[in-house]
Amino acid sequence: MIISPFKWTLLLVAIIAVQPILSTAVPESNEISDLQQSKRYKLVAFAFENLHRSLWPEELYPAMKNYLNDVKKWSDHDEMLQQSQYYVKIQQTLKTCLDLLEELSNHPFNCSQETALKAKHDTLKALFKSVESERCQQMWASKYLDFTLQMRTILRKSADKFYILLTAAVAAYDKSLDEVEEYEEVDILRWNERFIKETDFSRKQLLTIEFMGLFPDERNILESDCKIQYTNFL
Ligand SMILES: *[C@@H]1O[C@H](CO)[C@@H](O)[C@H](O)[C@H]1NC(C)=O
Repeated sequence: MIISPFKWTLLLVAIIAVQPILSTAVPESNEISDLQQSKRYKLVAFAFENLHRSLWPEELYPAMKNYLNDVKKWSDHDEMLQQSQYYVKIQQTLKTCLDLLEELSNHPFNCSQETALKAKHDTLKALFKSVESERCQQMWASKYLDFTLQMRTILRKSADKFYILLTAAVAAYDKSLDEVEEYEEVDILRWNERFIKETDFSRKQLLTIEFMGLFPDERNILESDCKIQYTNFL
């Protein structure tokens, strides 16, 4: 199934909206170490790490770099854009985005850098949407759309890779359970039955969010340094 960029954005917006519901208070430190010993925690920690990697795959950086450099090259020379009251701010923001991206390429998966890059790029998008010239707005939009199409392909691949890892991890986890544990962990096993059967890519994404939602306490520990950003560069 092909999802239009617009629907794709809507889906991601829906996904972010789920997030606040999932957060509760961080547990006490002795409860934390107990939790961290559990099979459940180890499973979700593995999922968390690999989900993060699949949402910010290294393959994304060259595509981002091309897109930002392309926008920069165009904006350096476009006379109409240079007349915009936002021009200086656009140039500065572009430079910051490129600097952050460079650091990220050298040290991938740094959560605070990813967050900073996303925030800066959000600023850049807002600036381009505010420029007075409609032609300039459209020029930027077409470059951005081109990038999002590439990004979608990359993210699709990295998500598929993640689903394979997650499926294997849950299968190993399932095997490791004794009868009593199987009873206690029935939420994960039920989820897994649905996940294995699901072939639609978007519904698998939603099931991934549902999976992470099964672990509110564990997630609070895992997300104390790094909140999952289901949206990365959009
Ligand atoms: C992430 O990058 C920031 C800024 O460069 C740095 O201060 C921080 O130590 C890095 N974090 C990790 C986990 O490497």
